[in-house]
Amino acid sequence: MTRRTHLAIALAATALTVPTLLRAQQAPAIDMASAEIRATATVKQMTADEKVVLTHGMMPLPFFPGTVIPAEAILGAGYIHGIPRLGVPALTETDASLGVSWVGGIRKDGATALPSGLSQAASWNTDLLYRGGAMIGSEARAKGFNVLLAGGVNLMRDPRNGRTFEYLAEDPLLSGMLVGAAIRGVQSNHIISTIKHFALNGQETGRKYVDVKIDEGAARESDLLAFQIGIEQGHPGSVMCSYNRVHGEQGCASDWLLNKVLKQSWGWKGFVMSDWGAVPGVQAALNGLDQQSGAQMDPALFFGDVLKAKAASDPAYAARLDDMNKRVLTAIYAAGIDRTPATPGTAIDFAKNAGVAEETAKQGIVLLKNNGALPLAKSARSIAVIGGYADTGVLAGSGSSLVHSVDGPAATRSSGGDGAFAALMSQSYHRSAPLKAIKAAAPAATVTFRDGRYIADAVEKAKQAEVAIVFANEWRTEGLDQPDLSLPDGQDALIAAVAAANPNTIVVLQTGGPVMMPWLDKVAAVVEAWYPGARGGEAIASVLFGDTNPGGRLPVTFPASLEQLPRPRLDGSDWVEPNFAGDPAPGKDQLHADYDIEGSDVGYRWFARKGAKPLFPFGFGLSYTSFSHNGLKVAGNTAQFTLSNTGKVKGDDVGQLYLVSRAGQPKRRLVGFKRVTLVPGGSQKVSLTIDPRILADWKDGGWSLPAGEYAFALGSDAENLGPAVTVKWAARAWKD
Ligand code: BGC
Repeated sequence: MTRRTHLAIALAATALTVPTLLRAQQAPAIDMASAEIRATATVKQMTADEKVVLTHGMMPLPFFPGTVIPAEAILGAGYIHGIPRLGVPALTETDASLGVSWVGGIRKDGATALPSGLSQAASWNTDLLYRGGAMIGSEARAKGFNVLLAGGVNLMRDPRNGRTFEYLAEDPLLSGMLVGAAIRGVQSNHIISTIKHFALNGQETGRKYVDVKIDEGAARESDLLAFQIGIEQGHPGSVMCSYNRVHGEQGCASDWLLNKVLKQSWGWKGFVMSDWGAVPGVQAALNGLDQQSGAQMDPALFFGDVLKAKAASDPAYAARLDDMNKRVLTAIYAAGIDRTPATPGTAIDFAKNAGVAEETAKQGIVLLKNNGALPLAKSARSIAVIGGYADTGVLAGSGSSLVHSVDGPAATRSSGGDGAFAALMSQSYHRSAPLKAIKAAAPAATVTFRDGRYIADAVEKAKQAEVAIVFANEWRTEGLDQPDLSLPDGQDALIAAVAAANPNTIVVLQTGGPVMMPWLDKVAAVVEAWYPGARGGEAIASVLFGDTNPGGRLPVTFPASLEQLPRPRLDGSDWVEPNFAGDPAPGKDQLHADYDIEGSDVGYRWFARKGAKPLFPFGFGLSYTSFSHNGLKVAGNTAQFTLSNTGKVKGDDVGQLYLVSRAGQPKRRLVGFKRVTLVPGGSQKVSLTIDPRILADWKDGGWSLPAGEYAFALGSDAENLGPAVTVKWAARAWKD
């Protein structure tokens, strides 16, 4: 090494600042500090009765005997009375992970369904998530809602998780940056957004009692880091705590998560609302919970008269009660929902908003395989479209996040029994039929459709056509995990048979997460469309015919087998009944999830540690053009490189920068990313700021970086990495 390089390395070491994050771009940061001053003044004026108004909410839905729904409430997930004497508005809450939720059509209005969280995340585009959040917030505001239960950011620790489709990714940086942007978008409408479910809510099986074991450092470097970055980027007014237990405590009564990490270590000033039916008792208030949501779902209303009585006799409860009010008011004032109230009855431009949904779907579609069959020629003469209800619409994930347009689902397939939440657990389809969009894109073609129930019939049609497009669906819902990662309903056999009959077989997947593809070698192309939302059919056709050049990249690893996972078996899945409300079966409330197996090595980090080869790696996605990544330089905590389009058509690339080794130890961590659009022959220089927490260990109460060489590489995904660039850094340690 020359003297000059030594000097450069020394400079790099001194220039590493701690911690630096990208600034929020699109909206001014929410001013929590001055809101807190106002909130403190309001709390001083509150009577003892008023102090338990904001601390609990109800579910304004006609499912609960004895519930009187206040006239000014809006049917939805939650309602919290206001305090008119003090100018404090009521809180009107709706689920909104993917749009203003449908709640079984009970409100008789409709909303714009964005594609699933995974689809959004596959865009790797923070600006797009901001636009989606802003769109949802604007619709919510026009319906009179002022609190959105949005911002789902649990990492994908188990690809079988039934709610994987609602969440974003398996990586803390990607998840945190994207969720932060979405929350900024929501809150740009003078609306409070949550970030949820805090924390380590990695499965639906036994979700109300599964007890997660994880070392604090591992949690801080993974799931908690996703929340931490999301909160810094998005400034959500509220955090929704989770159903699961952590180290034996319910998430919504975890002193460690709520008091120590969220409020003390991170200094966050908003309020913690419970998940619905997640409050074990009044002592949760001392452990950091500020508001009991949907109290009919809990064993009792703990945060009303019970809390008031506690506060009258116990100074610890009295102090907490003041703090709880201060926090709810801080969020209200910071979002401005008292001074700029929501405007129920405002007309919504659904056509414009559908454009946001369509653009999101297009940017999230991932091309997984292409032997040249795609893009399809618009002059194609005959196309056989098979399966997946492609004649009817596109698949949606189910549960509290389900969104539908005013006309409701195009089709519903019951799987929810007949309970109060049955409608939330049925498979349903948005009114955006891929078949229609394919016909529109290839007007000269004879396009036939077979539903795929009879393989011989589908094969016959496939033989007669130039191209066969098989739509294969995997439905997921809140409240239920997948038993494995196969495609249900015999679709694997259908695809294999069609592929044997027609060499130009293209598979379009609509899945809520990773699936196995036993037929992969036999088909010409595979397109992962996820749950593509309100205009999914149009987005899929646009990619198939090359009007959109696919630029999505996998935000999660697709494993090659369940044996590759940290927990090949999902404990409890054989004896837990599907149940949206998730109450334990009598005597069966002991279930453990050991996250120390993988620790903070979630997803691709686990695969790298084990040297296991996935079916498709994190970050993977093909294009109709080709790209090169060059000129990587790392100086201080800034990385620079150039992305170039070396092919013949315009397309989007995603620069992905990984840490590949640290102080002599192999490591695999995404440290930065940027999506760019490039014309043929075009190049773009990218500059990224590296957040040192991504490189660090969390131990002994703080972050630390070991001294030594840090090697970085650009990847087309987490497995295919370019040449490494090494910098030498001094040891450092710092607190949050
Ligand atoms: C879900 C939350 C949701 C709440 C209100 C719960 O079952 O876990 O994500 O916000 O219901 O609908």
